Amino acid sequence: MRHLLDTQFLAKDDALRILDVAEDMVDSQTREIKKLPTLRGKTVVNLFFEDSTRTRISFEAAAKRLSADVINFAAKGSSVSKGESLQDTAQTLQAMGADAVVIRHGASGAPRTLATSGWISAGVVNAGDGTHEHPTQALLDAFTIRKRLHGAASRGKDLSGAKVTIVGDILHSRVARSNVWLLRTLGAAVTLVAPPTLVPQDVRAWPVTVEYSLDAAIAAAPDALMMLRIQSERMNAAYFPTEREYSRLWGLDPERLNALPEGTMVMHPGPMNRGLEISSAAADSARSTVLEQVANGVAVRMAVLYLLLAGERTHEEREDDR
Ligand code: CP
Repeated sequence: MRHLLDTQFLAKDDALRILDVAEDMVDSQTREIKKLPTLRGKTVVNLFFEDSTRTRISFEAAAKRLSADVINFAAKGSSVSKGESLQDTAQTLQAMGADAVVIRHGASGAPRTLATSGWISAGVVNAGDGTHEHPTQALLDAFTIRKRLHGAASRGKDLSGAKVTIVGDILHSRVARSNVWLLRTLGAAVTLVAPPTLVPQDVRAWPVTVEYSLDAAIAAAPDALMMLRIQSERMNAAYFPTEREYSRLWGLDPERLNALPEGTMVMHPGPMNRGLEISSAAADSARSTVLEQVANGVAVRMAVLYLLLAGERTHEEREDDR
C-alpha cells in the first residue's frame, strides 16, 4: 500500500487485509509482545494542522509498538503561524527522513495533494481532512463492529447483513463519509439519521437510507448505533436546532438507550458532547464500544503503518502492473 487517503476508493480485499492484519496486531499485544521490530529504522511523522487526542496519540503508539521513530508536528507553535506553506512544511519534514506522513488538515483534499504533488516521496495517511474523510476511524469502527458480531471468528469476514445507523451531524462529518463508503464496501446496510438541516445536499448519491426520526431508527433494531459529535464550531443558526431541541429529538438519552434491542452496540468516535448527542448513561453502558474503539484504533493504525512501510501492494497497485 503506497498511501491511505480515503475509503471511497479502498478495494474490499485491501480493507479486509487491513482488518485481518489488525487482528494479528491485537494477538501480539495479547501475548504481551509490547514491541514488534517490524519498522525499526523507519520514521513516521505526525503532521497535525488540527487538534486531536485519539488519532494523533494512537498513531504515535502504533508507530512506537512497531519500533518506528516518531516525530510529532503540531501547526500551533510551528512556523505555519509565520505563513510557511504545506509544501515547505512537508519538504522540511521529509528532509529529516520521514518515511510516512500522517496528516490531519482542515482542508478537504490536503492529504491527496501531499501524496500526488511530487513534493515528497513518503507514504501519506489521511488522519482527517476537512469534511471529506477520516479513513482510519472508519477502519477501526468496522473492526469493532466485526469483532462484536463475530468474536474470535472475525478474520476474513465482511459485514454482510449488518445494519449500522449513523446519527447526528452528518453534514460536517468526515467520520460519517468514511464510514458510509467502507461499510457499504464491506456489505453492511447504512441508515443515516439527522435533522433535515444536517443532511448533506448530495446525500442521494450516497449508498444509504435517510431517516429523520431517531425513534423510528431505533425501532428498526440496528446492530450498531453510531452517535456523532455535534460540531458546534462549524454551525450557524441556519443549520442547527437548539441544543435542547437536538438532545430531545436526536440525543441518545436513557429512555432511548432502554428502548434499544439487547444486542445493539452504541458507538461514538469521540470526542463526545455528553448530555447533547449522547447521555452518560449510554456512553458508559455495557453496550458502549467507545473505549473498545479507541483500543482497536491502535491495532488498526499499526496495520496501516505496517502495510504502508513494510511493502505490501494494494489491489489498485497490482492492477496497474498488468
Ligand atoms: N475520533 C477522532 O478523530 O478523535 P480525535 O479528534 O481526538 O483524534
